[in-house]
Amino acid sequence: MDMFVDVLIVGTGAAGLYSALNLSDNLNILLITKDLVDKCNTSLAQGGISVARDKKDYELFVQDTLKAGKFKNCVAAVKTLVYESIDNINEVIDFGAKFDKEDGNFKYTKEGAHSINRIVHNKDETGKELFLSLLKALKNKKNVRIFEKTTLIDIIINNNICCGGIVIKGEERINIYSKETILATGGIGGLFKNSTSRRSLTGDGIAIALRHKIKTSDLDYVQFHPTALYDNKVNCEKFLISESLRGEGAKLINENGKRFVNELLPRDIVARAVYDEEEKSSKPYVYLDISFKNKKYIINRFPGIYKKCLESGIDITKQKIPVTPVQHYHMGGVAVDLNSCTSMENLFACGEVSCTGVHGANRLASNSLLEALVFSRRASKFINKSMDKITLLNYEDIKGMKVFKNHNVINKNIVINEFKKMGDGIRNELVNY
Ligand code: SIN
Repeated sequence: MDMFVDVLIVGTGAAGLYSALNLSDNLNILLITKDLVDKCNTSLAQGGISVARDKKDYELFVQDTLKAGKFKNCVAAVKTLVYESIDNINEVIDFGAKFDKEDGNFKYTKEGAHSINRIVHNKDETGKELFLSLLKALKNKKNVRIFEKTTLIDIIINNNICCGGIVIKGEERINIYSKETILATGGIGGLFKNSTSRRSLTGDGIAIALRHKIKTSDLDYVQFHPTALYDNKVNCEKFLISESLRGEGAKLINENGKRFVNELLPRDIVARAVYDEEEKSSKPYVYLDISFKNKKYIINRFPGIYKKCLESGIDITKQKIPVTPVQHYHMGGVAVDLNSCTSMENLFACGEVSCTGVHGANRLASNSLLEALVFSRRASKFINKSMDKITLLNYEDIKGMKVFKNHNVINKNIVINEFKKMGDGIRNELVNY
């Protein structure tokens, strides 16, 4: 079957939904997702979204991001992220997102390597709040459709220009021809034995880029979060214990009850300190302790974590939480410019699948949702301006177009083979397919 749309967006996390919301109402837009719409990583995000407190904070926020990223960041992208942060937070509030406030002001929280409190949040379920408000706003749009359980297996290319995607929906294969295509396929966590990510996120956008020699960068920059709830299962999603617990005072302690690291150092340093401590200890985990705080405060501030830990038999108001590092985020991805354009014409990438260079070698906490918002909106604004110049190929062109024979090569394997070339730190953590 063939379909024709103006814009095809692959993925329904923050980047996919927000780019759809920022496209012109006169465009025919189709969003697809390989699972159910809410099974994205955005809906799992806990800590919050970084935002400059005001213009005076720009320089410090840029410096914090560069320092966490080991100065491997693209400075222009970091400045764009920071300078446009306030505007984007205001826009998602206009779309209905709510962030915790006190006396009419945001209750900014702190996370590792931020010099000041600059993270807006909705308790410990910020991602869910953002996702639900964007989805609700999108449902009012008559020009947008969403297909669930629809997997992109390849893109359609003509003369090195992207003209849409080949998808599998149920048993059916559909060629979706589009003027513009946005990859918002998310990260790679499903390729790792232990990850905070949904298992379905297996680097599909990166696979397509590698297959067609679309530029990628920093693929070996993979972030491990220091504090996932420890359990002894492998090859499954791990529950995140948000860095904002540490931002609000929680302490990391070893089996002898001693602190061993400053909890608010950049994420890579804390994760390494936890690994080192586990090596020295008889246990494959350390503890995170917030139980010394007021019980009412803990339950009200971290209701999601409180509930999940209780289900696992841990009352965080009384007990320490066993935690261990797991794969969490991919800084690398499909290389894009400041408008999220990839190296292939009419193909965009935004959110975790992309590499804007904003995060350098190590992402600063709570900069991921912000990046998804800032750069997906830029992609949409660019598309809105350039759309008049693009004509959908006419049907005669399409009929003669070559559709790639190897589309059924499993994308997952393309990506995993790429990661297998990397250092042991990454290779040993991969699922053995
Ligand atoms: C967290 O809540 O610890 C995760 C936030 C992030 O990944 O930036």
